[in-house]
Amino acid sequence: MKKLISITFVLIFNLGCVAQNNTRTVINLEKNWRFINKEVAGAEMPEASTANWETVTVPHDWAIKGPFDKHIDVQAVRVTQDLEKVAKERSGRTGALPHIGIGWYRKSFSLPEFKKGKQALLVLDGAMSDAHVFLNGKEVGNWPCGYNYFYFDISDYLKDGENLLAVRLENLPESSRWYPGAGIYRKVQIIVKDQVNFQQWGTFITTPYISEKVAKVNIKSEVNGKNVKLVTEIKDADGNVKAIYTSDKMFDNQIEQNIGVTNPKLWSPDSPYLYTANLKLYQGDNLKDELTTRFGIRSIAYDRDKGFLLNGKVTKFKGVCLHHDQGPLGTALNKAALKRQIAILKDMGCNAIRSSHNMPSREQLDLCDEMGILFMAEAFDEWEKGKVKNGYNRFFNEWAERDIVNLVRADRNHPCIVMWSAGNEVPDQLRYEGVKHAKRLRDIFHREDPTRPVTVGMDRVTAILANGFGNVLDVAGFNYRIHLYEEAHEKLPQGIVLGAETASTVSSRGIYKFPVIEKKMQRFDDLQCSSYDLSACGWSNLPDEDFVLQDDKDWVIGEFVWTGFDYLGEPTPYNWYWPSRSSYFGICDLAGLPKDRYYLYRSRWNTKDETLHILPHWNWKGREGEITPVFVYTNYNSAELFVNGVSQGIQKKNFDTKQNRYRLMWMDVKYQPGTVKVVAFDDNGKAVAEKEIHTAGKPHHLKLSADRKVIAADGKDLSYVTVSVVDKNGIPCPTAANRLNFKVTGAGQFKAVCNGDATSLELFHLTTMKAFSGKLVVLVQSLEDSGNIELEITSKGLKTAKITIAAK
Ligand code: GAL
Repeated sequence: MKKLISITFVLIFNLGCVAQNNTRTVINLEKNWRFINKEVAGAEMPEASTANWETVTVPHDWAIKGPFDKHIDVQAVRVTQDLEKVAKERSGRTGALPHIGIGWYRKSFSLPEFKKGKQALLVLDGAMSDAHVFLNGKEVGNWPCGYNYFYFDISDYLKDGENLLAVRLENLPESSRWYPGAGIYRKVQIIVKDQVNFQQWGTFITTPYISEKVAKVNIKSEVNGKNVKLVTEIKDADGNVKAIYTSDKMFDNQIEQNIGVTNPKLWSPDSPYLYTANLKLYQGDNLKDELTTRFGIRSIAYDRDKGFLLNGKVTKFKGVCLHHDQGPLGTALNKAALKRQIAILKDMGCNAIRSSHNMPSREQLDLCDEMGILFMAEAFDEWEKGKVKNGYNRFFNEWAERDIVNLVRADRNHPCIVMWSAGNEVPDQLRYEGVKHAKRLRDIFHREDPTRPVTVGMDRVTAILANGFGNVLDVAGFNYRIHLYEEAHEKLPQGIVLGAETASTVSSRGIYKFPVIEKKMQRFDDLQCSSYDLSACGWSNLPDEDFVLQDDKDWVIGEFVWTGFDYLGEPTPYNWYWPSRSSYFGICDLAGLPKDRYYLYRSRWNTKDETLHILPHWNWKGREGEITPVFVYTNYNSAELFVNGVSQGIQKKNFDTKQNRYRLMWMDVKYQPGTVKVVAFDDNGKAVAEKEIHTAGKPHHLKLSADRKVIAADGKDLSYVTVSVVDKNGIPCPTAANRLNFKVTGAGQFKAVCNGDATSLELFHLTTMKAFSGKLVVLVQSLEDSGNIELEITSKGLKTAKITIAAK
């Protein structure tokens, strides 16, 4: 039989557990999957009849290439939070991309490593959704939740020679409130090991005692096999062995060890220090299985009076909520994309991520461990009472426990995770049944992980204070409703309050609207939102209002802003306007480019680096002489503004008011083209920093800058090239919308492009797009050979631009 499939052997795979050694083999099923986007008898069809199937690489998102279509998954919804009286037809709610329907994936492989006496597990990290998995024509298992990781023991289904793996997925309409993606969008692996082995996700490492001199590392490992011995070696980040420990006492199927690590280096966002535990399982003298797991030594505590303590130090959450799509890549997981997001967030001073509203990818958690980000891992957006007709409510009663078990067991060794969230704004909050669910879910989390607290993002604050729902949780997490924080603080036994979801302020990068007023749900004819950052939603508030509470109340332990990046779907406040198809909530746009709000958060969150940012841009032909307010987001407390050398006065942060406390605002500036300059003062009134922006002339050429000029030649790595349209002096043209065309040659390929315009129906995978507010981002991907990658960009009337990226 023609061998369509090649199997990639992974030497070290990028999970918390590293697992290639003499005892186990981990095989990544990546390339040469066959895919068809319709119902067929996919589990059994002969190879010949799959000729018209596409050949794809996993992770894969079948819907991201579009086209956008207003009619896909139109949802008639009445958003009660927005005080809507009648249901409106929401066209872009799930991104208007073709994710609804059935998809079949097949892959043939042979597995010479699997012999009698071995065990083989098939692990899927995420398949959207309702996966039915078949091997050699027989159904191996089903997993409905599209966000979770799951595995099946396939030992009894394997045969010698060629095996056929088939996966059927189905996305129903009205099953999500945002773009969920479609397909096998995270990795798939086969693990072959001895039958005497470490159980999948059965090892739990905690650090229950920490002093300056020594940390106690507790390891509980569930194993298959009798008369076994566990030998553990702990290494520091440089690979030095810190401790070796052997034990052979089994209690039921578990071996427990307590190991001392001297002079421990603690894990924190500022110093994300990681240790490694290498576990070897012996039966007699025979090494049967080996597992390597990274962990951090750190303590967490949630204190009634002090708040959240990390390693004994009060730490406020400066966090963002993130959906799982990566903009132009859709949901197909790419580690370089995740890493770029975290790097952008770290520069803003962000120290935490909430995986709203479902299980995070294992790769994202690895990166948060490495780069230093606290993590709130969330399980569900729905419990028994649904928000959308075909959402998780269909599965909740039967599956919730299994889903939580997999989430916790797979992820609990990540030091970055400091809290679990059992749900988001579940309508069950309002019912007595919901209190029972909350208690049951909390207890499942506690059973699987007694070291971390459980929260729920609650929006029905009055109800949960009255019905006891709020009392059941370890941490009271509130979505918006800041006017009820004080009451909740007084009434709830936990004392502390977390802004589990905050702000939901909306803006479009580089777009400013006049007059400049604070107004909820502001809408404009061009379906854009103003970047003066004064528009929130009916249920939400401006960033400044959250800051006030966090600064003034010790018992407010921080926030998770909705959202760090724009995402596909949920185009509030244009939910029922076409062609809006992605969110406006992001601090950064869908391309990952910072909006002005980025600098507002940075001025407060990044306490190490200077922030001095002026808005709006200064190209307002036709507004000469008209009031054009200027805002400055800065960590300095006062500054003087000049327009063409003429002082507009000094503004000081004023602690008595809401906005002036965090923004410097010159509300009466009249527009004249030229230069806007800000001079910032330190607290002694000394001028210490300045910044200028200029009116740009006509678009003249392009400026290219790559986030990384050297990438790995692994066929996956990405360089993100930001393209700016500039005038002849190199000044960015903030309103330019030139059409740009892309060509990639050499050791790479064009992957995608995105301009961050929530109303654009241009497709991300095509090699042309218009700039939005003068910019866009091109994603260039390596092939598997090293060499130079050339990106060439042409545009009518502009000089051709080129950039070289090395793949090594
Ligand atoms: C919240 C919800 C989020 C998102 C947000 C938009 O209520 O939890 O998923 O919809 O509103 O403001």
